[in-house]
Parts: sequence; C-alpha cells; structure tokens
Amino acid sequence: MIDYKIQIADVICKHISEVVSPDDIIQAPSPDKGDLAFPCFRLAKTLKKSPAVIAAELAEKISLELPEFVEKVEPLNAYLNFFLWRDHFAKKVTNEIFEKGKQYGSSNIGEGKLVPIDYSSPNIAKHFHVGHLGTTLIGHALYNIFNFLGYKAIGINYLGDWGTQFGKMITAYKKWGNKEEIDRRGIDGLTEIYVRFHDEVERDPGLNDEARAWMLKMQNQDEEALSLWKWFVNLSLKEYERVYKRLGITFESYRGESYYNDKMDAVVTELAEKNLLIKSEGAMIVDLSEYNMPPCLILRGDGGTLYPTRDIAAALDRKKTYNFYKSLYVTALDQNLHFAQWMKVVDLMGYDWAKDMVHIPYGLVVFEEGKLSTRKGNVIKMEDLLNEAVAKTFDIINEKNPELPDKNEVAELVGVGAVIFNQMYNNRIKDVMFSWKRMLNFDGETGPYVQYTHARACSVLEKGKYKTFSPSLLGDDYSYEVIKALNDFPGRVIEAHEKYEPFIISRCLVAIAQAYNKFYHNNIILSDDLELTSARLALTDCVRIVIETGLALLGIKAPSKM
Ligand code: ARG
Repeated sequence: MIDYKIQIADVICKHISEVVSPDDIIQAPSPDKGDLAFPCFRLAKTLKKSPAVIAAELAEKISLELPEFVEKVEPLNAYLNFFLWRDHFAKKVTNEIFEKGKQYGSSNIGEGKLVPIDYSSPNIAKHFHVGHLGTTLIGHALYNIFNFLGYKAIGINYLGDWGTQFGKMITAYKKWGNKEEIDRRGIDGLTEIYVRFHDEVERDPGLNDEARAWMLKMQNQDEEALSLWKWFVNLSLKEYERVYKRLGITFESYRGESYYNDKMDAVVTELAEKNLLIKSEGAMIVDLSEYNMPPCLILRGDGGTLYPTRDIAAALDRKKTYNFYKSLYVTALDQNLHFAQWMKVVDLMGYDWAKDMVHIPYGLVVFEEGKLSTRKGNVIKMEDLLNEAVAKTFDIINEKNPELPDKNEVAELVGVGAVIFNQMYNNRIKDVMFSWKRMLNFDGETGPYVQYTHARACSVLEKGKYKTFSPSLLGDDYSYEVIKALNDFPGRVIEAHEKYEPFIISRCLVAIAQAYNKFYHNNIILSDDLELTSARLALTDCVRIVIETGLALLGIKAPSKM
C-alpha cells in the first residue's frame, strides 16, 4: 500500500498548508469505511476547524481530481475515507507477485550491511533441549528475514564449549567412563557420568581437586586433556547437527567460547588501561552502579575469566571480522542483565558501535499438558520433542488422508513446522504455551493450517490450468480480502525485521490463509466460465507463492500435498 499512501498524502497536501506524510494514512478498520483513511484530528488546531469539517472540505476538493486508483473519497466524522478501484488494486498486487515470484516481499534495504546473529549456542555435553527452542527458531527466522531484505546475515553458533564443567567431566570419565559406551550413547553417556560426579563428590570432596587439576591442564594445553575435551565437543555436535539438519539450519561460524581463550588477556589489559577495572572481594570487576546495575565480573579470584569477559572478547572479534551494521544475540530473557552489563562495559570502553549490538530476549516454554511422555528426568530433549510432534502428526494425517503418498516425509515437515510456528505465533517475550492439541489443529491458527492452505492451493492448481488472466474479474469481496492480505505481506516482513519479531509474519500468513479459505469456500474456482476460472486460479497461484515464501522465512517447508 505504500505507493498508494504516498500518492494519497500528496493529494491531501495539495489542498492544505500542513505537511501530510504517507505514515499519516492508515488502513481503514472495516470495508464499509473504504481501504485507506486519513484521520483529520491533527489538523484541527492549526486550521482552527473541527476535524469533521476538515474531512468534509477535503473530500469535496479531492473528489474533483481523484488519483486514478481511487474510486471515491468520503468523509465520515473526523476521517477521510478512500475507496480504491478493486481492479486497479488487484492488478497491481498480482503483477508484483508474478514478477517477483518467491522474491515477493524481498528488498535491498540491507545491501552491503553485515548482521551477525548469535543464536542457538548450546552448551557442550548437554542435550539440545526445549530451552533452546526459542533461540534456535527465532534466531533462524531472523537470519532468513535479514537475508531476504538484502542484508548479509551471519549465523554464529557460539557454543558453550569451555568452563569448569569439563574438568569434572574428564575426572568422571577417567574414573567411570567407557569409551565405546560413550561413543555409542553420546550425550546420554556423558550426562550419566557427569551426574555421577555430582553424587560422588558429596562423599569425596577430593574429586573437586582432581577436576580443577584437569581444568588447569586444559588451560595449559595438555594433550590428553584437550583431546578428551575435543571428543566431548564432537560427540555433542553430532546430536546438535542432527537437529539442525531437521530444522534446515546451517551456521557460518562455530566460534564458541573456547575460541576466545587466548584473547582474554588483551581484554583484561584494555579494561585496566581504560581505568575500568577495580578489585572487589578478590575478583576484578567493572563498577556499573552509576547505571543501576550490579558490577560486571571480569576475573574470578583465581584469575579465571567469566562469561561476560568472553562475550566482550567475542564482540570485539565480531566487530573486527565483520564490521557489522548490527550484531544480534538471541537468548532467553533470564540473560537480560548479563547482556545489559557487558554491553554497557563495551560502551564504557569507548566503542560507539556498542549501540549497534542488540539483545533479543524471549520467554519460557510452558507445557499445558504436563511433561512429554517420552522421557524421564526434567530436561526435554529437542529430538524427543520433534519426534513426538512428527508421530502425532503422522496419526492425524493417517486418519485424514490415509491414501497420501510419502506420509512419513509429510509428517516430518508438518510436525516440525508445527513446533516452529507455535514458537513464533506471539510476541517473543510472552511465554510459549505448548499444547499438542492446539498446535497440531489443522483448523486453528497453526503451522499445519497454513501448510494445509498451501497444499489446498497446490491441488487446485493441479486441477485447472491458466495462462493469462484478467485481474478485473477479482472484484468480489472474497477475492478482494485475499488481495488485501497478500498486499500486506511485504510491509509485514519489513516490520518483523525492524522489531525482531518473526510472529508478525506468522500472523500475516494466517490472515492470508483465512482469507483464501473463505474465498475457496464461497467462490467456485473451476467453472465453465474460463475467464473467471483463470482469474481465480491466478489468485490461487499468488496465495501459493506468498505462503511458501513466508513459511520459508520462518524456517518451515510447504509440502504440496497433505
Ligand atoms: N551458551 C549459552 C547458554 O546456553 C548461550 C550463549 C548466548 N550467546 C552469547 N553470546 N552469550 O545459555
């Protein structure tokens, strides 16, 4: 609508001395009020007339020379309502979709701008679990969205691959581990010996000394310690990569925490030189009381570095490597303080690009129906979760459409898609309700519903063929609602990237799907009227294209049959 808004703002400006910008033109709230509207309240003061009078006067003047795409303009109370010519609008939107195809909604606003996105970033030797859903799925969607808008997004998996837990893990392995078994069982095997360490250390505190000794060895590049550590890392990556593959995720960089081991001294020196470091209770900190935050811990009493220190080193490295336009970090909101603190420290170091770093927090996953059935213990593995989603989807498909070929593959795409969509259907800061019943409802505001609509469009297009079409036949109310929803898409993609909120795209897709399904149920698409059939098929094709594009941005595949 933006070009319409520009032209409407121009026309209004011609008749008054005030500046009216395209942003002042709003979407009409309901069809009886037209398509676009201009609220006149703002002008009342300077023009010294009531908004209603202004609206009436403007309507009269503008009616004398309407822009070609406007059918009529009417005043209603304080509003000036514009009714568009539907055929003009239908032609504009469908033309644009067919011209750009799967690039509809893309742009080059980000050209030449690099945007590293730190996301997923699990901690080695621990399972990839539901706590990673948000960072992984939101991060990946933002990655797609930024690339779509011309930016060069850089996916960074900042693995938690260093820390005292590895000293414990090595100790445990040396005492109770079995190489073949751990190779076979992966993180399950590692978790078991790690848990055992914590049990036994209660009785034998000496184990802690051993763990510290191993950690020291790791720091001093001891060959055995490092090769065990590397083994743990690789075992863990095997599980993570299985998940990434199912989600269609790849990263440009796997620089994790360990990469920064030899870059910490420089950070500490720089902080000291800039007079930011102070000693407190044996540790070294940066005081942030002036900013109403607790101090940022830089060095432990024993000289070990900490999570914030590493993040500072990594930020400096990212600026150097990518000279980023923006640098994004997607984590759960319980890390808000951590990010606020260390980003403030980078600011205090005098780097004006500190303002270009953005922490993107998200809420918890809450299970409505109790724990998942597949696992005891309190972490829910991502693989178990995806498997359960796929199994449940398989059952639904089996019931609805037992003849469907490739049922297993479709269930995989729909089950995984349901999980992804569910994660991004609300403002990301809200807790995500996890209810199988709701998220797998093919008629609800869900991933399967949008995918189903796409499959429906594909099947319509299989039954009928069209070559050319006349957009002027898309003037009925149902078609018009579809066109409006499709037209909304590009603006929503921009908004999603500005707010770092993929749910804006999910909502837009549901609106398109709902409008199309109404159109489908109320209009006969394939009829003897070949011209009308062609137009309706073309509109169906537009819906297919835009849904596929939008789902892809979220990280969801669109099967053509379901
Ligand atoms: N490994 C951390 C965790 O699992 C997340 C890392 C987020 N990124 C960062 N640069 N701190 O909690």
